[in-house]
Amino acid sequence: MFRIESKIDTKSSDFRENTEHNKHLVAELKAVLDKTKLGGTEWHRQRHVERGKMLVRDRLKTLFDPGSPFLEFSTLAAWEQYDDEAPGAGVVTGVGRIHGREILVVANDATVKGGSYLPMTIKKHVRAQEIALDNHLPCVYLVDSGGIFLPLQTGTFPDKEHFGRIFYNQARMSREGIAQIAIVMGSCTAGGAYVPAMSDEVVQVRKQGTIFIGGPPLVKASTGEDVSAEDLGGADVHCRISGVSDYYALNDEHALKICRNIVETLGIKKKFQLDMREPADPHYDPEELYGIIPKATSKQYDIREVIARIVDRSEFQEFKEPYAPTIVTGFARIMGYLIGIVANNGVLFPETARKAAHFITLCGMRKIPLVYIQNITGFIVGKQYEHGGIPRDGAKMVHATSNVDVPKFTVIVGASNGAGNYAMCGRGYLPRLLWMWPNSRISVMGGEQAAHVLTDIKVNQLEKRGEKVDEKKMQEIRDTILAEYEHDSSPYYSTSRLWDDGILDPVDTRTALALGISMSLNQPIPDDYRMGIFRM
Ligand code: COA
Repeated sequence: MFRIESKIDTKSSDFRENTEHNKHLVAELKAVLDKTKLGGTEWHRQRHVERGKMLVRDRLKTLFDPGSPFLEFSTLAAWEQYDDEAPGAGVVTGVGRIHGREILVVANDATVKGGSYLPMTIKKHVRAQEIALDNHLPCVYLVDSGGIFLPLQTGTFPDKEHFGRIFYNQARMSREGIAQIAIVMGSCTAGGAYVPAMSDEVVQVRKQGTIFIGGPPLVKASTGEDVSAEDLGGADVHCRISGVSDYYALNDEHALKICRNIVETLGIKKKFQLDMREPADPHYDPEELYGIIPKATSKQYDIREVIARIVDRSEFQEFKEPYAPTIVTGFARIMGYLIGIVANNGVLFPETARKAAHFITLCGMRKIPLVYIQNITGFIVGKQYEHGGIPRDGAKMVHATSNVDVPKFTVIVGASNGAGNYAMCGRGYLPRLLWMWPNSRISVMGGEQAAHVLTDIKVNQLEKRGEKVDEKKMQEIRDTILAEYEHDSSPYYSTSRLWDDGILDPVDTRTALALGISMSLNQPIPDDYRMGIFRM
């Protein structure tokens, strides 16, 4: 492979200004992440610890191999929702290592609303299970939860991807031979009781973990029976009398050690063998990304400058380089793993879409994971292109992206608008993981274009009703739409609603991708690679 020759002038004023701007965005992100990772209020955390329980992140540290990486998902779920009282949606999810084996964990944070399930908590839990299913990862549930958040039952209980889906997923994963392990470290009430009940193996902590379908107040109300939580569903009940739990733990630490031992007995599963070389750092310093990402999302720049700071040795085997230059395709390595890259370098034209579709099918046939680097405002518009049948070529790329069976990863590094989001493997195209950079923007169209279109529609509407719309009124309408788009297209808005798996410091992109690729190799790539009908 050839090394990319960077054309960036690291001494230029542009580079300096971009660096300052992007470092500020990253500092903001880190501050928000740090605050979120604390979990509930100081009072709730203190009460939790005084009860002899470990905080959720301390539990995870004890569970995983010392010093091993933790690939966390959607840390900022529920950000600025629920009156900002649900940091991380009250649950931590991610992939860590136990005895060197990758394990997906879903851990309730009881310091946030008693670990109960708000709509975003369910979405985060179900998304984590989807990652486990797609990548064949054993699941460990650290259960400490009041079950459904009762005031929001309409957003949590009855629908297809609501609370019940969690147990359905456990059953389906168990059927696939994906181990399900629960450690009951706190409350497990009503529907929540099914998390351990649906698991292959259950650890329960004495005088701390409880499992019951109806808690003491419900029992009292229905039968008049007075019973303590411990006598109803504590570890002594479930390990000695009912048999619902399999291992009796003395405290959190003991339970986590038992869980590590269980993982040791899962048997080794061979990973998919991807072409692998000795990992090597990029030739160009990834920190230079801060100086490369323009302050304005609308400013175009050469995406090879980004690729050069993500891949091993900054080496790239570029495919069809002089043809259709607004998309960059080619092979590279990340931490030794061979990957294919599809990266935007301007708007999508018919030939761009065909070039991308060709490259994606190459990767599909060769079983090489794909990394999509999105900075896309959409497909080219205009009479000439419509007459040339651009939707037909766009569809080829959408087909290729939808049907390719290799693991796909998407990083949104700038704009993500319109059908460009779809062709470039947006959320609906099931990338194994999707991240956004702090500078990125995601919306159906750019704010300016949307303001233009919507102002036209609004003015027409008002004029039809006989209202006169002067320039001042038009400006007001435009400003309101622009402000809404600016707010709703931010990566924080997206990540809060789980449209992505997290916001990444650009410098961490390489590591996140490598961990994602490693995780994906637990699931073999199927042999029956097939495409649908490409309109010619
Ligand atoms: N719905 C809504 N809020 C809940 C909740 C639920 N299911 N479970 C706990 N919470 C909230 C509490 O309102 C409280 O909120 P606050 O901190 O904002 O005041 C917080 O979680 C902590 O609850 P608290 O009862 O003080 O904590 P605890 O550690 O003493 O007890 C539980 C935890 C889970 C045992 C207890 O809250 C409980 O029994 N909850 C109801 C469980 C239930 O019946 N669930 C049925 C769901 S299907």
